[in-house]
Amino acid sequence: MEQPNDKNGEVTGNIQADAPNVYSQATADRIASIPTYLTFDDVLLLPQSSDVLPSAVSTKTQFTRNLSLKVPFVSAAMDTVTESSMAIAMAKSGGIGVLHRSMEPIAQADEVRKVKRASSLVIRQPITVNPDQSILEARTIMRANNVHGLPVIDEHGSLIGILTTRDMRSTNDLDEKVEKVMTTNVITANDPISPEDAREIMVKNKIEKLPLVTNARLSGLMTLRDISQTDKFPLANTDDEGHLAVAAAVGTDASTDERVEELVNANVDVIVIDTAHGHSSRVIETALRVRKNFPDLQLIVGNIATAQAAKDLIDIGVDAIKVGIGPGSICTTRVVAGVGAPQLSAVMDVFSITKSSGVPIIADGGIRHSGDAVKALSAGASTVMLGTMLAGCKESPGEQIMRDGHLYKSFRGMGSLGAMKRGSRDRYFQDHMEADEDLESKLVPEGVEGMVPYKGDTRSVLYQLAGGLRSGMGYIGADTIANMYTQAQFVRVTPAALRENHPHDVIITHEAPNYSGS
Ligand code: XMP
Repeated sequence: MEQPNDKNGEVTGNIQADAPNVYSQATADRIASIPTYLTFDDVLLLPQSSDVLPSAVSTKTQFTRNLSLKVPFVSAAMDTVTESSMAIAMAKSGGIGVLHRSMEPIAQADEVRKVKRASSLVIRQPITVNPDQSILEARTIMRANNVHGLPVIDEHGSLIGILTTRDMRSTNDLDEKVEKVMTTNVITANDPISPEDAREIMVKNKIEKLPLVTNARLSGLMTLRDISQTDKFPLANTDDEGHLAVAAAVGTDASTDERVEELVNANVDVIVIDTAHGHSSRVIETALRVRKNFPDLQLIVGNIATAQAAKDLIDIGVDAIKVGIGPGSICTTRVVAGVGAPQLSAVMDVFSITKSSGVPIIADGGIRHSGDAVKALSAGASTVMLGTMLAGCKESPGEQIMRDGHLYKSFRGMGSLGAMKRGSRDRYFQDHMEADEDLESKLVPEGVEGMVPYKGDTRSVLYQLAGGLRSGMGYIGADTIANMYTQAQFVRVTPAALRENHPHDVIITHEAPNYSGS
């Protein structure tokens, strides 16, 4: 068809209507075949007829094939989000933390040990004394370790008494031997014993410590204080001995094998091979090696954003998959590299493969409100990973910053210059850059550095997130996270609806604990 020309020879008329003729049919087909990917703000969940009360739902979920969580929240492996304090707070509230890896392998393993020591029902290697040590020596041991009672064991490891501060007060002679003053009539229990039974024995006998024995040898110690501590955190994710669960990130660089070994020796529960592009041969080779060296270890690999990547990771036997290319708050991958996948569609595409395999999805990045978490879970995720939502918490390692009378905490992408200089270069496959004085000019960042408002306790933030999740589950009539996948009915929304979603036509005078407006 001829285009009508004006005097100057320029094309006029309805360009829109004639558009298919401007370029070839092949081009038109190519453009028409480009799919639209959606993210959280593009959709809402329709309310459904429901007999589900928010207070009655179960938020239990799988973090990996073998490890379940009581709430579906995971703290990001970022150097301004997760070290041991955050991991402890997350696990106590029913989630889990992934320790970042911008530190030496030994230091990261020590962070795991700090989490493991933070809570335990059974002390496995209690501090002890020998019967022929002096009262002075025993007192020094007690003071150095801040304990008030010591089991006394003989040269065979058999329990023969217990020495308390009260026993020691029975003599003024500091050179007196422990065996002269110790209590020999010791109440013990066979190892293992449930916390409930141990508590009953201690309360009945008015004692604070209960030595556990196996074939007359001391094999552990339980205290009333530790048992009461665990009562305070009913949601805590713990193993049989009361240790909190913790995950740790590793990369693909030269130190990875040593790092994994150190972490396993420290009893880490889960290893996360955490990279910017999980569907790459270097990551798959590393995953295969870890799987071969530690066949029973729970292994997560990420990040990916496509069904094909999910297939390839499932084929190598991963225990969970982390999804998210570019949705993160501090992330510039999409603008620097032009690559990414809007997060809601990415989760749905990966779920199309994982749903029949039992491999859980971690939706990583882009969660700004509890409603986004509800959408990510409804799309097929089993857990959501949080960076910006937790970076402002008291337990994050970011430094505190005071500006204009308000408190903030520093927060940066692991692909920012600062974080890559410290050690996260291999996440972005830039670890071949030497750490010399020119390092900064050689790096190509994929993240920014900034700060977020201070938020207080992680526990309160998770409480609000879980509350939002429960409410969402009630609206869509899903009493479990697995039921969200079938109950959820998404609708697309317009920019006008997005404006309507947020508070409008009002000046907010009182801050809500779960809404920041940004
Ligand atoms: P949110 O939105 O929760 O996202 O703060 C946290 C997730 O973002 C990823 N991450 C990055 N992605 N450049 C990126 O492209 C970065 O510098 C960067 N740092 C973190 C990571 O997956 C994290 O869990």
